Amino acid sequence: LNYLSPKSRAEIIELLIRGLERLEYRGYDSAGIGIDAVDSGLTLVKQTGKVKCLRDKIEAQQDSLDFGRELDIHAGIAHTRWATHGVPSDINSHPQRSDEANEFIVVHNGIITNYKDVKQFLIQKGFKFESDTDTEIIAKLIKHLRDLHPTYSFRELVEQVIQQLEGAFALAFKSKYFPGELVVTRRGSPLLVGIKTKEKLASDHIPVLYSKDCPEKVDLQDHRSHVYELPHGLARTESTAEFLPLGDDREVEYFFASDASAIIEHTNRVLYLLDDDVASVDSEGILKIHRLKRSLEDSHAREITTLKMEIQQIMKGNFSSFMQKEIFEQPESVVNTMRGRINFDNETVVLGGIKEHLSEIRRCRRLLLIACGTSYHSTIATRQLLEELTELPVMVDLASDFLDRNTPIFRDDVCFFVSQSGETADTLLALRYCKQRGALIVGITNTVGSSICRESHCGVHINAGPEIGVASTKAYTSQMISLVMFALMMSEDRISSQPRRSEIIQGLRVLPDQIKEVLSLDSKIQEISRSVFEKKSLLVLGRGYNYATCLEGALKIKEITYMHSEGILAGELKHGPLALVDEGMPIIMICTRDNVFVKCMNALQQVTAREGRPILICNKGDEEPQKYASKVLEVPKTVDCLQGLLTVIPLQLLSYHVAVLKGCNVDCPRNLAKSVTVE
Ligand code: G6P
Repeated sequence: LNYLSPKSRAEIIELLIRGLERLEYRGYDSAGIGIDAVDSGLTLVKQTGKVKCLRDKIEAQQDSLDFGRELDIHAGIAHTRWATHGVPSDINSHPQRSDEANEFIVVHNGIITNYKDVKQFLIQKGFKFESDTDTEIIAKLIKHLRDLHPTYSFRELVEQVIQQLEGAFALAFKSKYFPGELVVTRRGSPLLVGIKTKEKLASDHIPVLYSKDCPEKVDLQDHRSHVYELPHGLARTESTAEFLPLGDDREVEYFFASDASAIIEHTNRVLYLLDDDVASVDSEGILKIHRLKRSLEDSHAREITTLKMEIQQIMKGNFSSFMQKEIFEQPESVVNTMRGRINFDNETVVLGGIKEHLSEIRRCRRLLLIACGTSYHSTIATRQLLEELTELPVMVDLASDFLDRNTPIFRDDVCFFVSQSGETADTLLALRYCKQRGALIVGITNTVGSSICRESHCGVHINAGPEIGVASTKAYTSQMISLVMFALMMSEDRISSQPRRSEIIQGLRVLPDQIKEVLSLDSKIQEISRSVFEKKSLLVLGRGYNYATCLEGALKIKEITYMHSEGILAGELKHGPLALVDEGMPIIMICTRDNVFVKCMNALQQVTAREGRPILICNKGDEEPQKYASKVLEVPKTVDCLQGLLTVIPLQLLSYHVAVLKGCNVDCPRNLAKSVTVE
């Protein structure tokens, strides 16, 4: 997104497209731009697929877009979409618009969780929707507000809009009523402003302007029918000060972007907007940052900082690989998975994509969970809880083996297909096999619009955000949480399950903070990695809810370090694996306080009796198992069925550090692919 000083139209378009290309690494499925039209109004160009496809489409229209024309002042917006609501398609791409005349257009990163209520309201007002996106309601809502209040400024309209939105967003608006102007805002999703000037800026701070007499947000629940009708005579929001941050210098360019990589080739001077900041550039080219209310922690100014990073670094933040970044993203990605689905106060769980099939699922013969690789491990991790809370037989299967066996499937089976990419060939073939036999098909994927999504009857988007590292990390924890949420939803009406449900929901509430605590073990794990990276083999032992962690941890180690590693069920130790144990064999043992703790302690002692000196993963402050360990990693205690979410993270980190020490390519391990679309 950017705002520019004099440039030719072709340059402006090129700049927008270039910015999108810089964001390609994040993964997306479609792209679009919105610019002032040649005569008046706004022109949109949108295209499914790669940015290259959008570029081609625009180039084919060069004449009508008037590439050669010089513009003094200009605002354009552009976006790559990674679908959350609605399949990837031209219509679902951004910018989304208010109406056929493109009176208002908007691009959006994030999710609007109350979009259904707003949509309902706008439909009653006569709006016709063309896309399946949550974003379209924003474009229509701002038009509705302008129809009610034609004297409001662009920025004031946006301030009104965001008071009605719930969820996470970074938004950029343009309007045919305000040519050359741009308004952006954010809550929960990142947004920064890049500033490029010829002269050095007089100040490194842009003051925040506060609006007075701001209207209170209307209560959605109580006033559903007239919620967006702002009362007549409502005080307009007026800034308490006027400020021209950059003087009269018209040689200034502003860039608004969700990620510095999109703009770093133009400027390294950026300021980061905070939640609920509304930044606008008016037709004079003046940047202002507004807030409706002064908040206590607010610093009253936004500081312009100088980025010193290279592009590659920015894309990965301070991380050396996408995998490392994705591991560290987990405190946020798990929140995104739960957002809008779990109400922690009244302890209800609603998965919108499954809700309507719930009674059918409750009547089924059995649940089957089918997947490959890491996704399969997420089904093992949650199987026990599903059995407990649904009281149904639960089968978990590797897709390839499931197909090899010609497994009998019945009409009253419910089959879950878990897949990060939604494209894994084995999983997809198993899905078709079950669908043909009349079973209900539930897709659990991280990729909206993927084949598994499209071919399922219903499902859950895990919303972990694009995962780029070939070895899956954040998708695993989000898949687990999605299945846990399903179990919680299935048991909502059963009174005897309430205490159990309640402890799990409260466990999920504090999970993001607990994940942060586990991530703080990073340097200790790096140290442990030094002691194992030259070994030939690594065994990971545990049982019960932690068994899945053993399998997943060993898979991570195998995938990216090329070291032999095996996840071993501690109950099977004496049936073979014990023969591998001696003082030289590196062993990781997971032993947390759950119903198999005593049995794990037995296994631990069996290992130490054979001179093994395990690295222990145990609960914080639990001294008993530590007596038998050479090194200890303590993770916070949570409910048994969620403990695997915390014990897996040290192993993700360990595999990462070992791979780095061995000089392996962390993001693209040899011989492996992110999405395996062949059988
Ligand atoms: C490949 C990837 C793994 C992934 C597995 C299943 O093997 O390298 O990281 O777990 O496929 O992929 P899916 O997209 O179906 O979860």
